[in-house]
Amino acid sequence: KTGIILRDLAEPRFFGAAANTTYLFHDEKYTELALTQFSIFTPEDEMKWGEIEPIQNVFNFTGADEIVNLAESVGAKVRGHNFLWETHLPPWINESLSAVEIDRALKHHITTIMQRYKGRIYAYDVVNEPISDTPNATFRQTIWTDKLGQESVAKALTYAREADPVPKLYINDYDIEGINAKSNSLYEVVKSLKKDGVPLDAIGFQSHITLGQVPSTMKENMQRFVDLDLDVAITELDINLRGPANETALAQQAKDYHSVVSTCMEIERCVSVTVWGISDDHSWIPDGEVLPWDANKNPKPAFFAIADAF
Ligand code: XIL
Repeated sequence: KTGIILRDLAEPRFFGAAANTTYLFHDEKYTELALTQFSIFTPEDEMKWGEIEPIQNVFNFTGADEIVNLAESVGAKVRGHNFLWETHLPPWINESLSAVEIDRALKHHITTIMQRYKGRIYAYDVVNEPISDTPNATFRQTIWTDKLGQESVAKALTYAREADPVPKLYINDYDIEGINAKSNSLYEVVKSLKKDGVPLDAIGFQSHITLGQVPSTMKENMQRFVDLDLDVAITELDINLRGPANETALAQQAKDYHSVVSTCMEIERCVSVTVWGISDDHSWIPDGEVLPWDANKNPKPAFFAIADAF
């Protein structure tokens, strides 16, 4: 017990975690950290298309409900994650659907979920990972762009706003933390969406970062999106050691966490910092020791660095 409560230190910003129902209420120490340290939660997988609408028009809200209920029980917010993505799709979303059918499916999916959680979800990652990793390609090629073209992004955002005008609508992506070809592509896309009047409130910077590689241009980059009248958030932060967890590595990891959280603190419209998991034993990156709590749920140097930065 450290006596340090990160969610309190983060105020008025939110400190968040990806929550996973495999461990929530099954792993006691994990659950205790979830209930005490965080003021915003993202369902790690429970709202992904394949889990929440595995069969067309058959919704399974069990996991998402569990996380929304948990959040409400501790006065925390929820980031819905996500609607338009190429991954975690159910088998029924496939190339045999016509453009009209897939468009209808998209609208129905977004509308059904947002209406169910009306008033209970603070923000949605409406569009996840839309930008290509290939320089100058701009949009990632997916079933969505194959069927609906680049318009798929504007469609998803528009359907979301129509379903519920209140939640903040995000585009969320990785490797866009610093100024680089990919964030430049995103920046141009966002400018053009704004110019066309497409509803968009914020950009999520996933921030899956390798040890020692926090981009030096992160603040400048996030600020240029804020200057387009958007909120920004760190949405999936983890720092991958890619090597042994010796004292030097853990100290560098702490430094990296400190630097990302401080960057958010320096930007008035940076609303939250979310870590992608809680403890190293339950991370999506099994051997990276990427999180602020170790496999025994003990706070690592990174934990104290986050406290310090808030
Ligand atoms: C990951 C989850 O953490 C895993 O449990 C799952 O198996 C795969 O997806 N970017 C995202 C997240 O937007 O949804 C991904 O989450 C990690 C990368």
